[in-house]
Amino acid sequence: MFGYALAVLLSVSVALLIEWSVRSEEGPVPETPARALSRHELSLYHGGAGSRGLYLAILGQVFDVHKGYKHYGPGGAYHFMAGKDASLAFITGDFTENGLTDDVSSLSPLQVVALYDWLAFYHKEYKTVGTVTGRFYDESGEPTKALLQVRAALEEGQRIKAQSEAERARYPACNSEWSPSRGGRVWCSSKSGGVIREWAGVPRKLFSPGSSGVRCVCVEDPFSAEEDPTLQEYDGCPPHADSCTVIEH
Ligand code: HEM
Repeated sequence: MFGYALAVLLSVSVALLIEWSVRSEEGPVPETPARALSRHELSLYHGGAGSRGLYLAILGQVFDVHKGYKHYGPGGAYHFMAGKDASLAFITGDFTENGLTDDVSSLSPLQVVALYDWLAFYHKEYKTVGTVTGRFYDESGEPTKALLQVRAALEEGQRIKAQSEAERARYPACNSEWSPSRGGRVWCSSKSGGVIREWAGVPRKLFSPGSSGVRCVCVEDPFSAEEDPTLQEYDGCPPHADSCTVIEH
């Protein structure tokens, strides 16, 4: 009998555990139903005299930021963000009336990634209230076309970021120095460019497509580098040298 009860208890616990893990993958379960606020309603949560509370929105999601009263309350450095969705200003730092807008269509994909980092910050630090009806969500709290476009830009930005991180790991930046007497020097070490690795590599000039600048990168294998048209040796520097003098033209 005792064995049977134990087995039942165990299977119930396992079922609960599975249920919990499925739920936590879907994100936290809201304690109160999400509300859809109008812009006007949101503006009543400015934290000042006669206000209903202290909220702000980012990408159409509303957060209760009362915990951060010193930042967002009257007299706080970021009070101008209270009671509204000023998504654009999180990236531009333009806190003028024109800059405090939720129109983020001017942002590049990488800037959209940075904006989502702010959104993640608010999810981590503050309580979600719901959505603000307008640019990003409709009255039933469903995403609008504008939000779907921002999400597409986010995906593009994440792709670009992953690509540039992979390039940074493959071709880390060189160390460099310049002095009036000796001129410039670039060299590779196993920690250059902030990438800690098991190889030091040899310096090469990297010409990035779409960018006019040339930068010095460390290349692990000088032989395979010969086949890459974006890489070039430094003038007067032996192909296997780990340090090169930079001759100005
Ligand atoms: C794009 C420009 C910027 C934006 C959008 C921005 C936004 C913010 C926000 C929203 C907070 C409050 C975070 C919270 O809820 O805890 C904050 C805090 C803070 N920011 Fe900025 N900020 C910007 C630039 C700067 C600059 C340039 C400085 C310094 C020169 C600065 C210094 C601070 C400091 C010291 C805090 C408070 C940290 C604390 O007491 O916890 N911010 N910022």
